[in-house]
Amino acid sequence: MEQIIILDFGSQYTQVIARRVRECQVFSQILRYDTPAGKLAELKPTGLILSGGPCSVYDAKAPHCDKGIWKLGVPILGICYGMQLMAHQLGGKVQRGDKREYGPAEIEIEKDTTLFREMAYEQQVWMSHGDKVTKLPPGFKTIAKSGNSPFAVIADDSRRLYGLQFHPEVHHTPNGKQVLSNFIHGICGCGRNWTMKSFIEHSLEDIRAKVGQDKVLLGLSGGVDSSVAAALIHKAIGEQLLCVFVNNGVLRKGEAEGVQKLFGRGLGIRLHYEDATKVFLNRLKGVDDPERKRKIIGRTFVEVFDKAAKKAGKFRFLAQGTTYPDVIESVPIAGNPAAMIKSHHTVGGLPKKMKFELLEPLRQLFKDEVREVGVQLGLPKEIVWRQPFPGPGLAVRILGEVTPARIKVLQEADWIVIDEMKKAGLYYEIWQTFAVLLPVKSVGVMGDERTYENAIAIRAVHSVDGMTADWVRLPYDLLARLSTRIINEVKGVNRVCFDISSKPPATIEWE
Ligand code: XMP
Repeated sequence: MEQIIILDFGSQYTQVIARRVRECQVFSQILRYDTPAGKLAELKPTGLILSGGPCSVYDAKAPHCDKGIWKLGVPILGICYGMQLMAHQLGGKVQRGDKREYGPAEIEIEKDTTLFREMAYEQQVWMSHGDKVTKLPPGFKTIAKSGNSPFAVIADDSRRLYGLQFHPEVHHTPNGKQVLSNFIHGICGCGRNWTMKSFIEHSLEDIRAKVGQDKVLLGLSGGVDSSVAAALIHKAIGEQLLCVFVNNGVLRKGEAEGVQKLFGRGLGIRLHYEDATKVFLNRLKGVDDPERKRKIIGRTFVEVFDKAAKKAGKFRFLAQGTTYPDVIESVPIAGNPAAMIKSHHTVGGLPKKMKFELLEPLRQLFKDEVREVGVQLGLPKEIVWRQPFPGPGLAVRILGEVTPARIKVLQEADWIVIDEMKKAGLYYEIWQTFAVLLPVKSVGVMGDERTYENAIAIRAVHSVDGMTADWVRLPYDLLARLSTRIINEVKGVNRVCFDISSKPPATIEWE
């Protein structure tokens, strides 16, 4: 299969590069910067892209690639740090910058090149660099310059080596995708073979070949990834797949029924429904520490799932909805945010000691691709575009003790939030919107009577990947409807607040 390999030098945009390549319908994968040239050769890439990165090529700990890559004979595009490294390793000069050039810039294209085929001679680009190339390596020529960088784009056409000082992968470079497409299609000669239709076809064959006549077990959470994995595997092997859905007692209103209806009755997938509400809630009794809640739920889930699996028979494979971002090994370089933020969000995961072989058909896919596969498999919008929901469920949105009565209050309030967001046409536009039950009571008046009841907080955030988030400026009239409905319809609530904190310093969830 044609593929572009991206060597990661620790840029926060490495995954964005990989996604842009795939948007050009070419498969891409990210490997560490120090992947040996021999190993790269075995993978037969159609082209290589060297990402940017936070270091200077002169730093003691600067990531350097295997110099053998320059002799592989495949086209290589260096972006920012990747370009500087290209110049440095091939005999040019890079100068340490005393100040960063950060923000929009204009480049002027001076020579015709496939990289800018059919593009205007002046292009708006996004710069973010400290060092810059000051002398070209032998064989290279300048293609474009900017006010600040005399070597904003460089090329050695005979060896098909190209360097961009700017970032073509970010939206702030309006024609960046065209530049990448020109590299991938025009210079590397890739076709357009990576589509979700072809992915599904290959994947069905792979699953059938791997599984044979054996049986597969899948823990269905109702989230996008496990749902799409279930639909895909079911299409491949039908009855050989059994899904287990555990009700942990802290699901959203109607969730358990919805999953049974859609997967069991609708799609005809064999589904084992395990209502473990009592076990979970018993163990959560009296617990108000967030970390203890997570641990209890995580441990109990494994226990319940294990028992249900044993009851269900013998399985060779355990299927999981692992996606590509879970698989990419982050580069341990200071300043690389992906390396520092290792999520604590593994509640709901299963321990390695379980004696199964893993089946992870979505391992190569980014989230938007998983969604596209879901659409092509006929899953409804409510599943494919569902907002993320934490493994420990409403337990981390009920501050203080989790009791059946408090779960009911939050389920009702949460349901109203989802309903109103959908009616306002905002539910699918926003990363997450939900209600939180606070551990305080406050005084109010209802009719002629004094009340002393619970407070609900509303959270609405925009985010790209959950790592950072900004609170959404919901319209006042929508906030007013939410407040009125929650106070009128949810027994036990007399006050509604709106959370106006972003992440960082707050987190998305309250616990
Ligand atoms: P925080 O609260 O850390 O959340 O800003 C970031 C994103 O992760 C989700 N989240 C979880 N997901 N298990 C999960 O599967 C968890 O334990 C968990 N905790 C938080 C959260 O909803 C948000 O999208």
